[in-house]
Amino acid sequence: MEEYIDRVLISKEELGKRVVELGAEITRDYEGKKILVLGILKGAVPFMADLIREIKLPLAYDFMALSSYGVSTQSSGVVRILKDLERSVEDVHILIAEDIVDTGLTLKYLKENLRARNPLSVKVVTLLDKAARRKADVTPDYNGFSIPDEFVVGYGLDFNEEYRNLPYIGVLKQEAYEIN
Ligand code: IMP
Ligand code: MG
Repeated sequence: MEEYIDRVLISKEELGKRVVELGAEITRDYEGKKILVLGILKGAVPFMADLIREIKLPLAYDFMALSSYGVSTQSSGVVRILKDLERSVEDVHILIAEDIVDTGLTLKYLKENLRARNPLSVKVVTLLDKAARRKADVTPDYNGFSIPDEFVVGYGLDFNEEYRNLPYIGVLKQEAYEIN
């Protein structure tokens, strides 16, 4: 698997350190508030699993699955809900956990959709932010790392459903796109 990685962009150690910092920041900001951490499947799973253990507050978590990319590396802008929340969110502060904000189209749609359900608030924590590619007007409230416009994999991020289990964030070699 790692033969197709060109280079490590963010190491396992750097990821771990940043997740601790984000958890501490969120803990301070949400003191006394009822939080629902909303993980976006499937990419946010490793990040969210690590992050929730650094948030030192009572919380609940749930997941949504949205389609945006299919198997290509280009965002279509078409968003569909494949899996929805299990309960009403009127009494909670929603903190969306994302793996990466790229064009922002997925997030813009999701935030509008959630706001219509009248939660106490909606904020976003993303592990990665690729701001150079932004098309929709959305800014994450908490961001792990700003990254350049390169396609990355690992720690939940995939290429054709692979590489999600790498413990670091890496850049794929050109060859990896060609064999798939
Ligand atoms: P957006 O709607 O363009 O912001 O797309 C966000 C989604 O696209 C993310 O949740 C990822 O699943 C996927 N994505 C965007 N950039 C990358 C990347 O560099 N590697 C892997 N997946 C990506
Ligand atoms: Mg993906």
